[in-house]
Parts: sequence; structure tokens; C-alpha cells
Amino acid sequence: MNNILRIGTLLRERYTITDLLSKNSGFGITYKVRDNNHPDQPILILKQLKKPTAPTLNIQNLPNLEQEEILNQYWQEYLRLFRIETQALAKLGEKYAQIPRIYERFEEGGEEFYVQEYIQGHSLSAEVKQGQKLSEQKTIDLLIEILEVFEYIQTNPGYSVIHRDIKPDNIIRRSEDNQLVVIDFGLAKEVTVPGIKVGSILGGTEGYIAPEITSKIVSFASDIYSIGMIGVFAITGENPSHNLTLAQTWQTKANVSSELAAVLNKMICYDYQKRFQNAKEALQALTENQQTPPPPVPPAPQIPWKLILGTISGIIIIIGVVVAVISILSKSNDQLITDGKAKSGQLTSSDQKELSSDKNYDVYTFKTDKKQYLTVQIISNDFQPQLSIFKPDDKYFNPVPNVGTKDNDFTASIMIEPGIYQFKITSSKAASGNYVIKAWVTDR
Ligand SMILES: Nc1ncnc2c1ncn2[C@@H]1O[C@H](COP(=O)(O)OP(=O)(O)O)[C@@H](O)[C@H]1O
Ligand SMILES: [Mg+2]
Repeated sequence: MNNILRIGTLLRERYTITDLLSKNSGFGITYKVRDNNHPDQPILILKQLKKPTAPTLNIQNLPNLEQEEILNQYWQEYLRLFRIETQALAKLGEKYAQIPRIYERFEEGGEEFYVQEYIQGHSLSAEVKQGQKLSEQKTIDLLIEILEVFEYIQTNPGYSVIHRDIKPDNIIRRSEDNQLVVIDFGLAKEVTVPGIKVGSILGGTEGYIAPEITSKIVSFASDIYSIGMIGVFAITGENPSHNLTLAQTWQTKANVSSELAAVLNKMICYDYQKRFQNAKEALQALTENQQTPPPPVPPAPQIPWKLILGTISGIIIIIGVVVAVISILSKSNDQLITDGKAKSGQLTSSDQKELSSDKNYDVYTFKTDKKQYLTVQIISNDFQPQLSIFKPDDKYFNPVPNVGTKDNDFTASIMIEPGIYQFKITSSKAASGNYVIKAWVTDR
């Protein structure tokens, strides 16, 4: 049995649980956490792998000892497969923004955890709803958006992935760029160990799951089926999970062209061999049907000359000022060390600062365009400074290694690659006081 973690629990001395998102579905327990290690303390998603129980494996009638042995074997094999498949997913996420990044995996207290990127947005359940029919065009647009993500997931050499549980809940529209992000990949579903016939943990969601999956036949075409059912949901306004005959009856409930109906029916064909075999095929069929509408002709505008002339002269003045400022700045060095406000830098920049006790750290950002050595010195007569250096775009948020702590006069020197770095200054024992920070770069 899993130990469900309470809000406030700290893991790895770094992640604080802030929310329990789900515990009864899928392959894991999902939490929101805060990463205390990173200067921005971002929200992340933590997944705890669900452990098998005797009833889920249908072995509750065996003697206890035997149950335990099978459960243990199962868990080990599950972990092994899961770790392999997660590596593939992590690789995919590294290169591709439309699945969450996986930051790390760890074990703690006999449980297995994965940390992944938190996607801010809303799930497709807010766009595809019971009782609300989408127009044919909106349905097509949505299908194209989803299929484009899966085209990438399926054609990535070396680590293509089958999702197995596609449904509106598992697709998030990210607020930042309005793009779809696919979450909740159902990994390691085919665990086999002696003594059990696995069938109960195949996963998937009724109404969306392709029929052949119950016979353990799984392919990209199984995912096409589920995507097709999202299309059917969109155009009929009926939730496939609430109406299990929808795949057969949907056309009587929709106002749909014969072209789109043909594509949808081929996506959700009972026989997986007669379906589109992958997202690319389905996309082609969908886009072939699409005639690009002629661009709308805008009405001839009335030209407000006075306003335009006024605006142009304003812009010219602004450009002049910006050019002047840039030329002044570029005479000094283009290295920056800032505390949020961009401060044009001397190579060596020093700053008298007060670290107050109600705010236990300060963060500085430093940007470099080339590979060089960076030395940071912090001097304080009031407290013992501690320094960590991060790359804010490092997916692991790990401090750059080899930065130690020294008393009062603290100097760290590391080799840096082009990019952005952040220094986080804390005081040991949460003391406060004044300090001076200096940073400079050298070629060696
Ligand atoms: N990477 C993520 N970013 C944002 N929200 C997420 C993320 N992963 C999961 N969630 C939220 O948590 C819920 C449950 O997570 P999910 O991975 O779908 O697990 P399951 O459905 O198996 O319980 C999702 O429906 C979603 O609301
Ligand atoms: Mg889910």
C-alpha cells in the first residue's frame, strides 16, 4: 500500500507538498509541490508510483507469503520497466514543449517519485463538454491540434511513446502560449511476473479506450481511437464515458459533413487494422478535406493622417533616445550583474546590500555570452553568507556544483558556459545584515 503524503511534507529536503491532485486513478498519486531549492520557488508536479495490491493483481486468494512474494516481484519489475519508459518520455520532453519535462526521479521511504513540470492552464474538459456541441470547423481544428502533438510523439526516432489514456482530462491548454500539452502517459502497463495474469491494471478510460487493448494489442492506432472519440465528443456534445455505444451511434446525434464523418469513423473503427495507423495518416486525411478559405478582405480604412504623422515623429524621438542610451551603455561592459533592475555593469560590480531577516535570501542575475570563469565574492561583517549558483533555465534547478561555503570573506570561482546564471545569497542561521557582493569574469 502507498503511504499518501500530507500537505506540508518535505521531500528530499527540497519539495514541499502543497496539494493532493489525485489519488485514485491512473498509475500514480499526483501532488503539487513547491521547489524550495530554486530561487523562484516554482510549483512542480510530483507523481508517486502506485504500488500493486493483492486485489489489483487478483491474487488475494493465494496464501499470504505467496502474495507478498508476487507483489514484491511485481513491484520490482514494474519499477524496472517504468524507469526505462520514463527515460524515453524524459528525452521527448526535453526536446518538445508539448509534453511536460521530467526533472528527476527518486526513492524516499520505500516509495518511487517523479518530479515533472507543472503546466499552468485548463484541461480540454473545459472546452469539450457534455451538452455542448462544437461546430464542425472547431472540431476539425481541435483534432488537428491534438494530432499534431501525437504526430511528433509517434515519429520521434528512438523514443516514440504510446499514451493509452488519451481523453480531455489528460490534455492541458497552456495559458502561456495557448498550446496543447499532453499529460498522464500510461507507462509500463505490461508487467509480467510468474504467478499472475495481469489484466486489471491495463488502465485506460471507458469510452475512450480502444477495444483491442483488452486483448493486449496496443499500437499507435489505439491512441488514434481515443483521439477520434474526443472528436466525437466535441461534435455530438456527448461524453463517451457516459454513453458506451456512442462509437456506433454518434452520427445520429451530430450535424456533420460526410467528409468529417468518414475521417472520424476511420479513426474509431473497431478493427484497429482498418484505422489510420498513426497520427500522420489521420492528419493528412483531415487536412485534405480542408479547403483553405480565401483571406477576408478588410474594409478600406479611413486614413487618420494627423494621428499617423504625430505618431511617427513620436517614434523617431523615442528611437533617438534609445539609440543614445544603447551607445552609452555599450561603451561600458555588456556583462550584467543585476538585482532585478538591469544595471549596466563594470566587469566588477559591487553593491552594498542589506539582507533583512524577513526576507531570507537575495537573488542576482548574471548573463554571459561566452565560456569563461566567473568569480563571486561576498563580504559581510554581519553574517556568514552562503551562496548557490543556479541556471534558471536548467531543468533540474540544481545549484551549480563546486560552490562551497566559507566564513565571511567568501569567494567562489566556477567555469561558466554562455547563458544566464542566478546567485542566491542566504545567510546561515537566518541572520541578517549588510554585505558586499562583487562578481567578475576572467578568461581563465
Ligand atoms: N504536469 C502537469 N501540469 C499541470 N497539472 C497536472 C500535471 N500533471 C497532472 N496534473 C493535474 O493533476 C491531475 C491528475 O494527474 P494525472 O497525471 O492526469 O493523473 P491521473 O489522472 O492518473 O490521476 C490532472 O488531471 C491535472 O489536473
Ligand atoms: Mg489523468
